[in-house]
Amino acid sequence: MVDAVDRLYRVLYRRVLSPLPERAAVTLGQWGLRALPLHRFPIWRNADPRLRITLGGVPLANPVILSSMYYDTRILARAMWLGFGAVTAKSITRAPRPGHPHPNLVRATTPEGPGLVNCNGFKNPGLDAYRQALPRLGHRARLIVAAAGESAEEYVEVVTGLEPFGDLVELNISSPNTKLVYEWSTRPAEAAKLFQAVRKATRKPLIVKVSPDFRQTNEETLIPAALDAGITIVNCGNTRRVEEPRLSQGSGGLSGPALFATTLENVRRLRDRFGSSLEIIACGGIDDPARACAVLEAGANACAYFTGFVTRGPMLARLILDAIVQARK
Ligand SMILES: Cc1cc2nc3c(=O)[nH]c(=O)nc-3n(C[C@H](O)[C@H](O)[C@H](O)COP(=O)(O)O)c2cc1C
Repeated sequence: MVDAVDRLYRVLYRRVLSPLPERAAVTLGQWGLRALPLHRFPIWRNADPRLRITLGGVPLANPVILSSMYYDTRILARAMWLGFGAVTAKSITRAPRPGHPHPNLVRATTPEGPGLVNCNGFKNPGLDAYRQALPRLGHRARLIVAAAGESAEEYVEVVTGLEPFGDLVELNISSPNTKLVYEWSTRPAEAAKLFQAVRKATRKPLIVKVSPDFRQTNEETLIPAALDAGITIVNCGNTRRVEEPRLSQGSGGLSGPALFATTLENVRRLRDRFGSSLEIIACGGIDDPARACAVLEAGANACAYFTGFVTRGPMLARLILDAIVQARK
């Protein structure tokens, strides 16, 4: 049954979603997630107790995480039934943001497989409206709420506003399509103050999400500063900044399997360098069970993906979970 549904999605992706213009494919895909009663079927899940982990002290049913992209609580609620140990909400900013104009998402054909390039620009309803929406979201899986901003004060305000609703809180300091957020990595001393301020503002476990474009800064300054502040979880990482003339901004963030080699290398190096003081969420290009098993084997505590959810469909989490259990037998 699992294989049959997986094959069915591949056909749907190749024959229906791929030929559609990106904007129409996104609309159709998101409609499907909201409208189809996927949650009624138990096939998405694997409840093997060997999959259980803790992240920042929070128990998760398994180490597979849906990475940040959706803010619609109906979609997040459905995603919580699709096998994930945790789902991550979109990065929220203090004020609502309309996002960048279309085209803000295009497909990328890379030698490693199908990817995406986006310049979404944090389209989100803003903190106050999101605080109204979040209580409607159940907690079938763990919820990671995420904050982005342009000043330490903004992060503190967004984190303290969101944290009552999340099990963990992610600080996005790395999305490449909003200049001031991406530039945190070029101002590590200020980022260190931001980590201290946010750490003081909440007792929830915090995650710092870093960029694959700043390897040296991540290792030499940002992650040590996070650890100094008492933030022990890193998500590596976000999309990679690329020039993309098809997008309204002329550049965007590349996601998908072209990132995977770097993700794997980063996990290995971070585990070597920081040992057990750091919990690592591997993210970037994980779109099949072998890649998920490889990052966990290399020392990641958990693995997260977004592009694989689009290109491989809702069955991917289950396929990964089955492969992890198999590898641990
Ligand atoms: C359309 C789109 C929107 C995204 N929005 C966010 C976001 O709001 N916050 C964030 O931290 N990452 C965001 N990401 C990055 C993903 O969460 C993930 O880190 C990145 O895509 C790499 O993983 P992947 O190769 O599995 O997609 C977004 C990615 C895409 C494709």
